[in-house]
Amino acid sequence: MAGTMIQIRTVGVVGAGQMGNGIAHVCALAGYDVLLHDADAARIDAAIGTIDKNLRRQVGRQLITKADADAALKRIKPAASLSDFGACDFVIESIVEQDEAKRKVFADLRAVLKPEALLASNTSSISITRLAATTDRPDKFIGVHFMNPAPVMELVEIIRGLATSQETYDASVAFVTSLGKQIANAEDFPAFIVNRVLVPMINEAIYTLYEGVGSVEAIDKAMRLGAHHPMGPLELADFIGLDTCLSIMQVLYEGLADSKYRPCPLLVKYVEAGWLGRKTQRGFYDYRTDPPTPTR
Ligand SMILES: NC(=O)c1ccc[n+]([C@@H]2O[C@H](COP(=O)([O-])OP(=O)(O)OC[C@H]3O[C@@H](n4cnc5c(N)ncnc54)[C@H](O)[C@@H]3O)[C@@H](O)[C@H]2O)c1
Repeated sequence: MAGTMIQIRTVGVVGAGQMGNGIAHVCALAGYDVLLHDADAARIDAAIGTIDKNLRRQVGRQLITKADADAALKRIKPAASLSDFGACDFVIESIVEQDEAKRKVFADLRAVLKPEALLASNTSSISITRLAATTDRPDKFIGVHFMNPAPVMELVEIIRGLATSQETYDASVAFVTSLGKQIANAEDFPAFIVNRVLVPMINEAIYTLYEGVGSVEAIDKAMRLGAHHPMGPLELADFIGLDTCLSIMQVLYEGLADSKYRPCPLLVKYVEAGWLGRKTQRGFYDYRTDPPTPTR
């Protein structure tokens, strides 16, 4: 019932990494007060620096005014501990993609959150139903899956767990819409929609390379010009991170028990080498040169 919908004013973001800072940015720009927490205090300061820089970039591109940027930055407060989250109406967990760590955060929030507060996870691949079951409020738990980079990408996937209530879903749709984002509803199955389609496509591109069907350059050019993808699949893999691509393939392979999702051995080899893409300067391209050069 709409009448019982929680009024969302303060948003808590747990995890100030690449996704957490983008989510805090988007929420603050939409007018919400934001509390930003990370287990590593230095990451909170770094995130606020990144948000400041990204807001200035939006001002430079005349997407927002300087006054909007200043006001948004003021709305974000660092939270040294989760015990500051008592004021939050909606909490978004965006820490490392590990069951155990996420479960610990939900356990710590148990003593702090007000009973009506909604709890969401930005997980890319972990079952929302399973995470919800470890909290004190499975009916008030939902998946909100932002895309990277959150301030730029239009879409958020919304994933209901088995126990998620209609009120929680309605309030989450209203909240995500108020952030200026579009919604795609996804059922709670491994990797949801975007990664279910995108990452096997990337894995197939890596097989194409592995089997010698095309070179790195030929594969990326073919998909840019032949399918009008803005980035080739190997460039995109480097952007996402090859470790992330591998872990999503493993979740699909194990979660759906279907051999069509087996990770390409060449992807495994790159990850074993620590060549994880842009973040380590080397993946299918070497980013230490300008322009980047293919590594095969
Ligand atoms: N990177 C992407 O493209 C992407 C896209 C959508 C969703 N996601 C999901 O978002 C989440 C975060 O991913 P990311 O890319 O921002 O990772 P990241 O490594 O950039 O950031 C994770 C942050 O979590 C912090 N952290 C770890 N344990 C913590 C704890 N117990 N309490 C508080 N903070 C803790 C770390 O210090 C780090 O700052 C993951 O669930 C991931 O699957 C990632």
